Amino acid sequence: MKPGILGIGDALPPHVVTNADLVARLETSDEWIVRRTGIRERRWLQGEETLADLAARACEAALLDAGTAAADVDHVLIATFTSDQLTPGLAPAVAAKLGADHAAVVDLNAACTGFLYGLDHAAALVESGRGTNVLVVGAEALSRVTDHEDRSTAVLFGDGAAAALVGPIENGLGIGGFEFGYDATLAELLYAQRDERLLRMAGQEVYRHAVARMTEATERLLERLAIDAQQIDLFVAHQANARIVTAVADALGVPHERVSFNVEWTANTSAASIPLGLAAAARDGLLEPGALVGMVAFGAGFVWAAAVASYKNTPTEGAADGID
Ligand code: ACO
Repeated sequence: MKPGILGIGDALPPHVVTNADLVARLETSDEWIVRRTGIRERRWLQGEETLADLAARACEAALLDAGTAAADVDHVLIATFTSDQLTPGLAPAVAAKLGADHAAVVDLNAACTGFLYGLDHAAALVESGRGTNVLVVGAEALSRVTDHEDRSTAVLFGDGAAAALVGPIENGLGIGGFEFGYDATLAELLYAQRDERLLRMAGQEVYRHAVARMTEATERLLERLAIDAQQIDLFVAHQANARIVTAVADALGVPHERVSFNVEWTANTSAASIPLGLAAAARDGLLEPGALVGMVAFGAGFVWAAAVASYKNTPTEGAADGID
């Protein structure tokens, strides 16, 4: 079975935090934040709102987009490191909210690359015939692990969730390939400790490694798949900083009109960043069925991942009843 992305959906918390809101209590400025990061606003969960609710809303939108019933979902894979509780993870609660009553449910943590790892697992499930309708979700509440008094990180992070439904397709590239890598010797440059539970990072160092690793990983993958960067219809790089996204796109030779930029209004949402970029691009008409999409992410570990997939090829008829 050839795996493909059949639908996309996203959800953001209603509460908007603008740069002006942060300027009111931190020694920073809208001008600095926009010039150094491209971020103008971010969304934060408030009070009793849960990340599980947000993730479930994103899944409902993805299922609607794909025309698939929740009851037919066989796996829910959620990439996150900011779930509502230490345990259980988000996936059981999200599956229950959806009515995906017979799904296998699991959370995975690969920091900002989590969605691409989930996509890899989903593709493998479909290829092996063990999955037919696999929800892959990136969901984060980074406001929970942000030091809101530290201006060097407080302006950077936001909350959000987005999901893709992966299933078998008739033809086309589908989920075409991945490139993964890590360097644990640099783990101290970006981390959140168990007790402190706040993200700490050496911004400039992270920036340098992020650009280099994301560029190299994408180049290696494109070479392996014999795809020219010019053939990419949409490039979605982890939205940590608009300057990083621009630098990677320029190094690869992808024109800016084919690059997803949503960091402006989401800020950095870690594992949710790539699928939020896909959903926004689909809404903006930048992601037509059959489009060739390049994706790349970099985060704590350091861990990085690149992927190439075609979008919304024709699903295999009746696959939901025929497999597993
Ligand atoms: N407002 C005003 N000034 C600030 C702020 C702020 N919010 N934050 C830092 N500054 C100051 C610094 O104190 C420094 O002042 P100094 O020169 O007097 O010492 C100056 O601005 C420059 O600081 P830098 O850290 O050098 O600024 P830089 O241009 O590197 O931007 C940033 C910082 C935005 C963090 C950038 O390094 C970056 O984006 N790094 C990568 C982030 C990333 O990719 N994270 C990976 C993923 S993390 C995750 O996804 C969970």
